[in-house]
Amino acid sequence: MSISSKCTSLLPAVLGAAILGLGVANASAAELGNVEAGKAFAQDTCASCHAIDKGADASPDSQAPTFEAVANTPGLNRRALIVFFRTPHKNMPNLIIQGAEADNVIAYILSLKTKN
Ligand code: HEC
Repeated sequence: MSISSKCTSLLPAVLGAAILGLGVANASAAELGNVEAGKAFAQDTCASCHAIDKGADASPDSQAPTFEAVANTPGLNRRALIVFFRTPHKNMPNLIIQGAEADNVIAYILSLKTKN
């Protein structure tokens, strides 16, 4: 009896830690997703509007920030990008990025960061 009550009381603590873990996901951003796969995905899906390479001055769509500029946005982290990608893009109601594709493209964008 005492063992099982201990076990069930652990569950909220574990869930709590998992939720807190999301808040500090930025710290482990480098380990999630595949930068090369993210670059390939960005080339296919994003490059018609965004400059996706480091060092680009401007994007093909002048309204769209370069990915390097996105990466260097103060406060930008994995979590913010996950939230952004869950909502439709301006002019692109079908562009919702989730799962491994999101992890990969986020890893790629964050790899372009040149400022802290
Ligand atoms: C049809 C053109 C188009 C395509 C394709 C496109 N974007 Fe965008 N994107 C934009 C425009 C325009 C903006 C700026 C307006 C806005 O925030 O919606 C933007 C904004 C963004 C932002 C937010 C930048 C900020 O600082 O607010 C991110 C991140 C982003 N795009 C990522 C992507 C990724 C990743 C892809 C490919 C999976 C992609 N976009 C494909 C046009 C596009």
